[in-house]
Amino acid sequence: MALPLGPRFLFLLLIQALVPPSSLQLHLDPGLIDRIVRDSAFRSYLVDHQKTAVVYNVSLPPSIPGVSAATVRFRTGSLRRHGAAVGEFRVAPGVVVRPRSRRLVVVAQNLGDLSSAYDGYRNISGFRLVSPVLGLLFYRAASVRNASVPPELEILATRGPITVDFSGLARCSRGSRVLCALFESDGNLSLSNATRGGTMCRARTQGHFALVVESAGSGGRSGGETEMEMKLSGWKVVVVSVAAGAFSSVLLGLVAVAVVTAQRKRMRTAEMERRAYEEEALQVSMVGHVRAPTAAVVRTAPCLENDVAPSW
Ligand SMILES: *[C@@H]1O[C@H](CO)[C@@H](O)[C@H](O)[C@H]1NC(C)=O
Ligand SMILES: *[C@@H]1O[C@H](CO)[C@@H](O)[C@H](O)[C@H]1NC(C)=O
Ligand SMILES: *[C@@H]1O[C@H](CO)[C@@H](O)[C@H](O)[C@H]1NC(C)=O
Ligand SMILES: *[C@@H]1O[C@H](CO)[C@@H](O)[C@H](O)[C@H]1NC(C)=O
Ligand SMILES: *[C@@H]1O[C@H](CO)[C@@H](O)[C@H](O)[C@H]1NC(C)=O
Repeated sequence: MALPLGPRFLFLLLIQALVPPSSLQLHLDPGLIDRIVRDSAFRSYLVDHQKTAVVYNVSLPPSIPGVSAATVRFRTGSLRRHGAAVGEFRVAPGVVVRPRSRRLVVVAQNLGDLSSAYDGYRNISGFRLVSPVLGLLFYRAASVRNASVPPELEILATRGPITVDFSGLARCSRGSRVLCALFESDGNLSLSNATRGGTMCRARTQGHFALVVESAGSGGRSGGETEMEMKLSGWKVVVVSVAAGAFSSVLLGLVAVAVVTAQRKRMRTAEMERRAYEEEALQVSMVGHVRAPTAAVVRTAPCLENDVAPSW
């Protein structure tokens, strides 16, 4: 491309600003999804004056498409006495919360299409998700207003279990034994048998849950193939998001280049005109030199299309 140095430099800057290396992971890191959902839930409590023990849907940003979440606020004593029902989760009475906190915010999330974020989980190879990943997380209510209060809470169900009801969410898994997977925060996957005909999981702690089946023939070789398959799907997501990011940056970059070049042209033309009055001889050679590139840029300026578009 025969761009003048200034615009090309600006173009590179734009690409760097719009496609930071970390954005490649944007749709893949489960921890980041949790933080986005948490922040949206917290914001909902700051914006609306909301009641305790009432479940609200959380409106989520478009950066996590396909995810849905619900939130409810409790006094910890009330949660311990009465338990709770949030989304697909039922929390039996008798919950112990650590560290101590007087009030808490419960967030239940359904990762929907973004469940593939868990494909990269350390030892999920050999298993296949047959449901979306559902998360149940607990936060200190005080951290909603005070960022210096650490938000995460751990809970332990001491009397009854926490149940996760996947009915209506599970994909068909003919013949295979359905297992419950808990994605532990230390990176391990722990498995248990699903109950109620493979639609319900039981748990003792907060966390992320899904139904899985063993991939066909979980021997060494096919296990490797499954791992390949899962890596590939993660890889596809990366490629698509990089391509989309690059495409939009290129568009923006071209617009910026056009704008900058047009501005430079305008400045140069003004300068030309000023000089033209001063020395006729100089004017001829310099205008001849400048006109060709500026004309090309004017022909490809994208703003012309924008002007046309709304008229039909
Ligand atoms: C909350 O979201 C669920 C689906 O995620 C929907 O069925 C329900 O109607 C919503 N409730 C409200 C009050 O918007
Ligand atoms: C926020 O929490 C910290 C630590 O608990 C406390 O020292 C501080 O006073 C709190 N700030 C506000 C505004 O409540
Ligand atoms: C995952 O790894 C942990 C230890 O690294 C092990 O205890 C656990 O059984 C493994 N889970 C699966 C499903 O292989
Ligand atoms: C989780 O994985 C780590 C490292 O593989 C291992 O040291 C730890 O014992 C595992 N924990 C459980 C509960 O399996
Ligand atoms: C799941 O159930 C099978 C029998 O259906 C049993 O052999 C196995 O030990 C159970 N696994 C767990 C983790 O409870």
